Amino acid sequence: MRWNLGLSYLAVLLGSVSGGIAADSSVIQDPETGFTFSEYAAAYAIGSSITFRIAIPSPATGAYDLVLQIVAPIAVGWTGIAWGGQMIYCPLTIGWLSGSTGVASVRRATSHTTPALYTGATLQVLRTGTKTNGTHWQITAKCSGCSSFVGSGTTNKTLNANGSNRLAFAYSKTKPSSSSSAATINVHDVYNYWDHDFASAGNANFAQLVQQNT
Ligand code: HEM
Ligand SMILES: *[C@@H]1O[C@H](CO)[C@@H](O)[C@H](O)[C@H]1NC(C)=O
Ligand SMILES: *[C@@H]1O[C@H](CO)[C@@H](O)[C@H](O)[C@H]1NC(C)=O
Ligand SMILES: *[C@@H]1O[C@H](CO)[C@@H](O)[C@H](O)[C@H]1NC(C)=O
Repeated sequence: MRWNLGLSYLAVLLGSVSGGIAADSSVIQDPETGFTFSEYAAAYAIGSSITFRIAIPSPATGAYDLVLQIVAPIAVGWTGIAWGGQMIYCPLTIGWLSGSTGVASVRRATSHTTPALYTGATLQVLRTGTKTNGTHWQITAKCSGCSSFVGSGTTNKTLNANGSNRLAFAYSKTKPSSSSSAATINVHDVYNYWDHDFASAGNANFAQLVQQNT
């Protein structure tokens, strides 16, 4: 995977390799949806990045819902987050633009082969915050089942709502051929990892905001 080697050099040049202590994300208030998001701009090519934004309830206990917002350049075919910080044994929430429709889907893999649809999580694409223009597409979706999952074997992994979590993303330049959430996806061209702060992603009025944006 020549691209991955290339990207790790790129990450060093950009100074975006994590030291493992401080998170790589920062906080934004989205005026359109009203959510406070913790965001990370993931470089997938020189000068191009995909922004991943995460909002969670505050306080968050047990298996909590989260809202994921993806802002991607039009050139992005599909992209998504691996919530366990690796491709296998975790929910993979992916999105793409089909015509003018933002589509989202959750998959899971137990090997480095095409992931299957994952039934342990459900997505609700929010009307507000899901859109496209001449340069970007954007999807905002609530996920129930992305923050807590059975990893390898019977190990239950719950993402730390009060700290930072190691996440991974993947990007493909090839768009899935339909708007079905079960559409076939091509293998990624680039993937990488970062530490995302969830402690700063809290929203006291989370449920109300989901309602407002539905
Ligand atoms: C058709 C779908 C997919 C195929 C065929 C595929 C295949 C592979 C293969 C062969 C590798 C190993 C590459 C290497 O060792 O250099 C890999 C790694 C990886 N893939 Fe995928 N993949 C797919 C979808 C996804 C999705 C949807 C995600 C996340 C949203 C993802 C995230 C990753 C990550 C983070 C790695 C790095 C190794 C790891 O952390 O496990 N992949 N993939
Ligand atoms: C994992 O454990 C948490 C905390 O006890 C629980 O809320 C959640 O439902 C469990 N998740 C799964 C997938 O079993
Ligand atoms: C296009 O959409 C993106 C993502 O929503 C946004 O950041 C950008 O400002 C928009 N561009 C214009 C010209 O409105
Ligand atoms: C996070 O902190 C809040 C407030 O201190 C607490 O109610 C909650 O249980 C904590 N959640 C986790 C997952 O530790």
